[in-house]
Amino acid sequence: MTEVTKTELTEDGKVIRKVRSFVRREGRLTKGQEQALSESWPTMGIDFEATELDWQQVFGNDNPVVLEIGFGMGASLVEMAKNAPEKNFVGIEVHTPGVGACLMAAREAGVTNLRVMCHDAVEVFEQMLPKESLDTVQLFFPDPWHKKRHHKRRIVQLPFAEMVRDKLKVGGVFHMATDWENYAEHMIEVMEAAPHYQNMAQDGLYVPRPDDRPLTKFEQRGQRLGHGVWDIKYTRTA
Ligand SMILES: C[S@@+](CC[C@H](N)C(=O)[O-])C[C@H]1O[C@@H](n2cnc3c(N)ncnc32)[C@H](O)[C@@H]1O
Repeated sequence: MTEVTKTELTEDGKVIRKVRSFVRREGRLTKGQEQALSESWPTMGIDFEATELDWQQVFGNDNPVVLEIGFGMGASLVEMAKNAPEKNFVGIEVHTPGVGACLMAAREAGVTNLRVMCHDAVEVFEQMLPKESLDTVQLFFPDPWHKKRHHKRRIVQLPFAEMVRDKLKVGGVFHMATDWENYAEHMIEVMEAAPHYQNMAQDGLYVPRPDDRPLTKFEQRGQRLGHGVWDIKYTRTA
């Protein structure tokens, strides 16, 4: 376990303490993950650099782009990409073994409409994503940071919600899901405070579990144990 916060300096030498939404845990790569990373990264990996991406160049087409933050091992992302070949998918995850696992699954499924990045999604948003270029942003089961004193580490905060909105096309959708009720309430609070978003629920604050969000082992286990899951969708209105 290493940094939770990272100290950075501004150009004039001031110290900024950056609060991050993750703790970097450099778990070991399995042989399969290592092989998938070395073989598939050249075609499916996007390196972090401070240059704006051009989706047409990345995918070679103009299909709608769905971007997922924190895809874990990538099982649901790969399934979504396989089920929707008419869309382009991009996944961002900081945990290298997860990226390796995702590339393994992608190869096995034969998907070609998926690209992955191994970096802090916040920095990718800040530096690499063109404005008004995404059709959907997905954030499924983000780290809940249960303790109150850790709530500031939750990735969903007002500046984050506004940054996501700016990268969405008008009419684009920000879809979140969590199994932690207190985080669901926090998400709603943040999204209601962010201008130019509209809650898409027909009835109440939450949408029914969408069929196109694959049921992961983790969620299946939660269902068996009677845990709740809250799906939240907001659309960009202006
Ligand atoms: C609780 S896991 C959920 C994984 C997956 N979405 C799922 O539903 O199984 C949260 C994931 O988000 C990743 N994560 C947290 N903050 C991130 C960030 N700023 N950028 C990219 N990935 C992040 C973590 O490494 C972790 O894999």
